[in-house]
Amino acid sequence: MKSKIIASLSIILVVLALAAPALAGGWAVITLERLPSGVVVGVPLTVRFAVRQHGKTLLPDLTPTISAHNAQNGDSFSIDARPVSGSLGRYEAVLTFPSTGTWEWTVQAFTMDQRMPDLVVSANSPVSQALPKEGSRLPIMIGIVGLVIALAALGVSLRTKRRWVLSLFVLGLMVGVAGFAFTASKAEKSNEPVIASQIASDVETGQTLFIAKGCLTCHVNNRVESKYYDFRSDIGPNLTSYKGSPEFLRIWLKNPASVRPNTGMPNLELDAAEIDALITFLSAKAD
Ligand code: HEC
Repeated sequence: MKSKIIASLSIILVVLALAAPALAGGWAVITLERLPSGVVVGVPLTVRFAVRQHGKTLLPDLTPTISAHNAQNGDSFSIDARPVSGSLGRYEAVLTFPSTGTWEWTVQAFTMDQRMPDLVVSANSPVSQALPKEGSRLPIMIGIVGLVIALAALGVSLRTKRRWVLSLFVLGLMVGVAGFAFTASKAEKSNEPVIASQIASDVETGQTLFIAKGCLTCHVNNRVESKYYDFRSDIGPNLTSYKGSPEFLRIWLKNPASVRPNTGMPNLELDAAEIDALITFLSAKAD
């Protein structure tokens, strides 16, 4: 009797021990495939991500949970992700945000939550917001009207030779030229801030990728807001004032093992644009 109990207990223990790596598993790196952008309220957003146990092994057969919370009005929801069939260790979930605002969200694969970059959910499509406003077309309209008046006056003055018609021609010409000149100067001016903000947003994109790709699980960078740290990891070096060259980084981030075959850093399958943004972020001077 006693030996039977011991036997079944040991069977249970063996089963538990075999199951343990799948259950406990330590820590994981979650890597978002694409940074979501232009998220609109009520419009489903598909997110895909990979789960790597200890940053190395792609883990299948999980049911990761995504939890989202609107920092402004307290709305929240959570949803399970499904494995992407035929793609080991990759999962997919469809998120539909019920309200506008800044949403905080995390992915939990099996042990800890990995916080993802906050998402701004807007009321309507960013494409329609980007269309030029009526007002910005006004100077060019005035310019055209001015030239039309000038041409008409010119036509009349050729036949009548009246003084006032000639003045009308000059006036129309001046208004026309002023309208076009104003439009041109505006176009020139508006180029500058766009270029500046592109550079700024590259650093920002790099920082967002640093969070979304799971770099934070292994590296600290003091420029990243503290709310994104579950703990400050020392698995990889602190990258706050990283000095490596862009040329080296391009090779390293593409495939670390091609530089050091035994490195603890995984190949996170970053594309060229993501690598560029990460390099801009890592090379930016601390503010
Ligand atoms: C699973 C942990 C892990 C993850 C995730 C990770 N790294 Fe690393 N990283 C390391 C380790 C460990 C080293 C030190 C590697 C070595 O010397 O072999 C390292 C080194 C580096 C270095 C220094 C290379 C050098 O020698 O100059 C940079 C830069 C770097 N990582 C950037 C990143 C970026 C960017 C990401 C996210 C896209 C990332 N790492 C994700 C573990 C990680």
